[in-house]
Amino acid sequence: MKKQFAALILALVPAFAFAAGTEAHLDKVEIDLTDKAAMQDGLRTFSNYCMGCHSAQYQRYERVAKDLGIPEEVMLKNVVFTDAKIGDHMKIGMKPEDAKGWFGAAPPDLTLVARVRGNDWLYTYLRSFYEDPARPYGVNNTVFPNVGMPHVLAPLQGRQVLPAHLPEGESVACKQVQVTEDGRKQFDPLTGTPITHEDCSQLTVVPGTGALSEAEYNEKIKNLVTFLAYSANPVKLESQRIGTYVLLFLVVFFVFAYLLKREYWKDVH
Ligand code: HEC
Repeated sequence: MKKQFAALILALVPAFAFAAGTEAHLDKVEIDLTDKAAMQDGLRTFSNYCMGCHSAQYQRYERVAKDLGIPEEVMLKNVVFTDAKIGDHMKIGMKPEDAKGWFGAAPPDLTLVARVRGNDWLYTYLRSFYEDPARPYGVNNTVFPNVGMPHVLAPLQGRQVLPAHLPEGESVACKQVQVTEDGRKQFDPLTGTPITHEDCSQLTVVPGTGALSEAEYNEKIKNLVTFLAYSANPVKLESQRIGTYVLLFLVVFFVFAYLLKREYWKDVH
């Protein structure tokens, strides 16, 4: 009985630990691990904007090129910015000790981060940096409070702020959010238009400050997360392909097995 009780406690612990880590609301993202164009775009963003600080050292350039259908020369020219060779692991030059001094925390390796954090977490995290003058790099993050990472994609997204927490003298229009009651969206009974209210606690991008529109930025991040999801599970592409062959084989095998069975039982009946 004692043992069973202990087992029950142990089984529940991860559930509680998980619940504690996901307080912030996470936006859902549908990731398609067969979408090579998305993964290529994600890889481009990763090598341009992330590999200054983060490695993906359990992954080789060669393997990624092969899996994503990128010719080796293109990979070497456009993705590999160090003197690394095509067969090398995706390492970086920054030393963890230095990084710790600069950012307060060393940027972790990102090969497996999609498995550790989950796709929804990554998708939300990379879209949740906002200006906060109290922080060393002037940015904070609603999903990862007091994060050490600067908002390196700000030139693409633009200046994202929390209108309720702007410094004195600056104002940005708050988001209009549809009113809900008991989880149901409310509409005006006469005109049928959505009833909205101003919500100044929502993240808002200052119009015209980024190179991409909100939809384009979301797409960029989705592609980046698709690449990270692939990187955390490169065999998934392979197993999907093999899975198809296995099923085909089983179908063909069944036909032969059935014919053979009929042959054997012909004289018995
Ligand atoms: C200037 C250096 C720098 C760049 C460039 C950078 N990061 Fe970071 N990143 C950090 C640091 C430092 C941390 C650790 C933050 C902490 O623990 O407070 C971090 C943390 C993270 C985390 C959280 C990891 C975890 O599980 O705790 C993710 C995910 C991440 N970065 C993704 C990215 C992506 C994707 C890019 C490219 C778009 C990128 N980073 C570019 C410095 C950087």
